[in-house]
Amino acid sequence: MDNRPIGVFDSGLGGLTVVRELLERLPHEDIVYFGDTGRVPYGSRSPEMVKHYAMQDCGLLLKQNVKYIIAACGTVSSVAGEVLKALPVPAMGVVEPTVEAALAATKTGRIGVIGTAVTVRSGSFEQAIKCARPDAQVFAQACPVLVTLVESGWVEENNPATEAVARQYLEPLMDHKIDTLILGCTHFPLLAPVISRILGESVTLINSGAATAAKCASLLQQRDMLSASDSMGSCQFFVSDQPYNFTRVAEMFLGRAVREDVRRVDMEGIG
Ligand code: DGL
Repeated sequence: MDNRPIGVFDSGLGGLTVVRELLERLPHEDIVYFGDTGRVPYGSRSPEMVKHYAMQDCGLLLKQNVKYIIAACGTVSSVAGEVLKALPVPAMGVVEPTVEAALAATKTGRIGVIGTAVTVRSGSFEQAIKCARPDAQVFAQACPVLVTLVESGWVEENNPATEAVARQYLEPLMDHKIDTLILGCTHFPLLAPVISRILGESVTLINSGAATAAKCASLLQQRDMLSASDSMGSCQFFVSDQPYNFTRVAEMFLGRAVREDVRRVDMEGIG
């Protein structure tokens, strides 16, 4: 048993889609979340910069004495695997659990992936899919503008601007007749209703947040690292820019009010 908190980080708000699923699956765990809201988006930066940020983000969580770290960010998970492996606590990203869920869901082996430019350029999801199922066909599409729309809270199913942008990104994938779509950026589960409406019921959406939280829960159980507490766990939130916008949009991500303090940290001071 291990009563220390689980650390979760993302470039901004997207990783809260993992936190939401963790809260459901592991209600007795304490969670420390860091959203690097002052430096979002990561998805249009160089892989070197993303690794550097990931190292700093993990450093901040380790200072909070976390027992496990989840890189709840498709971009970090795609290019900073070596940073996660070198940590003094176990860590995981979103690629492997999400790919496992997609492979379990697909019938035709025609799988779409949407993510940031860095994620798509890295080929991380495609490699993991092909490794497990070499005959699969993978069609990837970078959707950077969707990240901005989500950070701005433009997630309503009937938002015409969001629908127009999503349609433009998704049409090429529809032409490839995919039966499964990986939401390879943790911001995108919030757009699932818009995406589903465009793609129709024949395409199964794979939510990286749900797949990752489920995998984390089973790993902690296997390693006997779950909390021994039987009271409800607490959440602590840290951000690197002013917290007002975070709180407003975070409520949409979490599906509940954010009553906890959201603390601002200065990433300039972190080596
Ligand atoms: N949430 C991040 C991801 O999953 C994307 C946002 C960004 O570009 O920083 O890739």
